[in-house]
Amino acid sequence: MTTATGTDGTPSPALRAVTLASAVDFAGFRRACRQLWAEQVAPDHVSWHCADDAEGDLFETDPQAGPLAAAAAEPVPPVNAPAAFLPLSESVVLHRDPDRFGLLYRLLWRFQVEPGLRADPLDPDWLRADEMAQAVRRDMHRMKTCVRFRTIADETGGAPLHVAWFEPEHHIVEATAPFFARRFTAMRWAILTPERSVRWDGERLVLGPGARREQAPPADAGEKLWLTYCESIFNPARLKLGAMHKEMPKRHPATEPQPTPGGASPRSLPALREALERCRECPIGEHATQAVPGEGLKHARLMFVGEQPGDQEDLQGRPFVGPAGMLLARALEQLGVPREKVYITNAVKHFKFEWRGQRRIHKTPAQQEAAACLHWLESEIELVDPGALVALGATAARQLMGTAVAVTRERGRWLERSDGRKVLIALHPSALLRMEPADKAAAYAAWVADLRKAAAHFEAGTTTPHEP
Ligand code: URA
Repeated sequence: MTTATGTDGTPSPALRAVTLASAVDFAGFRRACRQLWAEQVAPDHVSWHCADDAEGDLFETDPQAGPLAAAAAEPVPPVNAPAAFLPLSESVVLHRDPDRFGLLYRLLWRFQVEPGLRADPLDPDWLRADEMAQAVRRDMHRMKTCVRFRTIADETGGAPLHVAWFEPEHHIVEATAPFFARRFTAMRWAILTPERSVRWDGERLVLGPGARREQAPPADAGEKLWLTYCESIFNPARLKLGAMHKEMPKRHPATEPQPTPGGASPRSLPALREALERCRECPIGEHATQAVPGEGLKHARLMFVGEQPGDQEDLQGRPFVGPAGMLLARALEQLGVPREKVYITNAVKHFKFEWRGQRRIHKTPAQQEAAACLHWLESEIELVDPGALVALGATAARQLMGTAVAVTRERGRWLERSDGRKVLIALHPSALLRMEPADKAAAYAAWVADLRKAAAHFEAGTTTPHEP
């Protein structure tokens, strides 16, 4: 902690210096926020730093050490923020802007002292954080779609190594690497970038220091040179192994269930997610970034079914995290139904879109595409075994009921499936977002009143949430 002096020479309040373990140390950032809030340290009295920016040993910084750990260990009063703030912060932290931590802490502080902020979509801090999160998601998407591997044969008889060079705009390498591990599980690969390099050896991800393009062998260099170069990047002497290993679930592709139509249903939600990622039973999967399985409580009493992932869901691999998801989160909060205690999924698991300029615009899935996806939803229903379901919109209603449902007429009513399960019909949140501003408030209130009927079926489960 340092004491600063104001321009008039009088001492200004003490400035709290927080040093995070790395540029992407989200856990350290959350710990610091809780501590700062507990001590009532106002945002403009905090200066944020990352150990990576400092000279010296990157991975030996103890995130507990320093001014924060030295502070009095007071009981931490609960910090409250809208549900959407956590995923937003996870993305913002990966932005290159050095002010990102200050911005997020200021927002968090303001949520505690300005109750109206939650409902103010035009607040400049909110908007800036949103913009930053979107920039990060776009960059992650670019990495997922632009990385091209070059295959290097291993003359010693080992599996070939696939190497790629990529220059991200933001600190996204660690966050995006698990995507490549899932997609290229059976390959040995390395992605080299200026700040971080990452390698998958078939079982785990290993992070290494950055590489310099001019140091890397030219594109047409011989394979031996590339292999030597990669070995030097991931030379154990250069790696702080304890801190850099990121455990990934061990995968055994040969023994995992395959996504064959009409094949045996996956026996667990993790097996379903694994198989779903490889699904190409309709053409949508070819163009989407990834499949988006449902998430939530393993044996939730209530299951919400939407249409298909949108742009942000496609990038993040999670259902209902974009604008429609924020509306759903708001309604659930209002109804006292915690999102993590229900199960949220979609009728179709890949994002169908068309490019309009730089933007990916949602396209409604064709009936055959939804039909090809039906068995995934039915498997989820079988595995979660919810007491009741909510169909959000026409695609979900058709998928759940096996026949077209006039949603505007049937909304707020319970229908019964052939397996006896009850399905509440409701509008899709995107329909509310598209309404004329003058109609929105009443339509939202009616929608929440419809969903309240499902909330009655909700009861807190006792099982642990299914990992996203
Ligand atoms: N709309 C949907 O139907 N599902 C999502 O996950 C997001 C938007």
